[in-house]
Amino acid sequence: FTHDIFTGQNVLITAGPTREDIDPVRYISNHSSGKMAYALAEAAVEAGARVTMVSGPVTLDKPDRVKVVDVISAREMHDAVMDNIDDIDLFIGCAAVSDYRPVEILKDKIKKDPGNSEEILELKLVRNPDIVASVAARENAPFVIGFAAETSHVIEYATSKMQKKKLNMIVANDVSDQSIGFSSDSNEVTMLAEGMQTALPKASKKVLARKILNVASRGYHQWKSH
Ligand code: PMT
Repeated sequence: FTHDIFTGQNVLITAGPTREDIDPVRYISNHSSGKMAYALAEAAVEAGARVTMVSGPVTLDKPDRVKVVDVISAREMHDAVMDNIDDIDLFIGCAAVSDYRPVEILKDKIKKDPGNSEEILELKLVRNPDIVASVAARENAPFVIGFAAETSHVIEYATSKMQKKKLNMIVANDVSDQSIGFSSDSNEVTMLAEGMQTALPKASKKVLARKILNVASRGYHQWKSH
């Protein structure tokens, strides 16, 4: 790992899950712990970058020398990213953003009393904004790296996400394996870009974060020089 690969560069990272309220006591979310993103933020600081992280609700300690903006929902994460995107050179979308949220947040707790005693309760959901795709679609967009959490056809689906969202690079992980991906301390990824495929073997998220940034820096500096 080289310590100055991102010296002077501004890096913005999304982290953790988002939480989409259903009513005052319930929400929709996922198993992201933020470990992968926080490790990337630490590694980016070590690599010389100025780092901002927009983080969903996690229980991790804030990394040193990282500006952390805490958010709860996908829409808050989207707005916080847009508030901090100017002057960003490299954007990494590592958050597990909820693709959908309830159409309305109920003011009162859903009751299972007479009048609402059905066996089946339907919840209507609406799509959330795609944060990484919005960043990539900007005029003068930064170099954009997304993640792809897949449970099958990992390379194929990740490649198609990269193309659809117009990302420069994507980091694919197989989240059907409990020992890697969501929540665990380790991960194993394949990094993809046009004409490039690099597999990084299983390692702790802290070790892997440095390797991911090393591979990313090659793509980034090539892109920047054009
Ligand atoms: O947090 P950990 O417990 O350490 O786990 C790490 C991780 C498994 C969460 C991480 O390695 C990972 O894969 N992050 C992406 C999770 C995800 O939601 O992937 P996706 O394939 O659904 O989304 C593809 C890309 O679009 C991602 O860069 C995601 O951040 C982005 N996205 C998705 C939806 C949305 N509305 N906005 C987005 O920006």
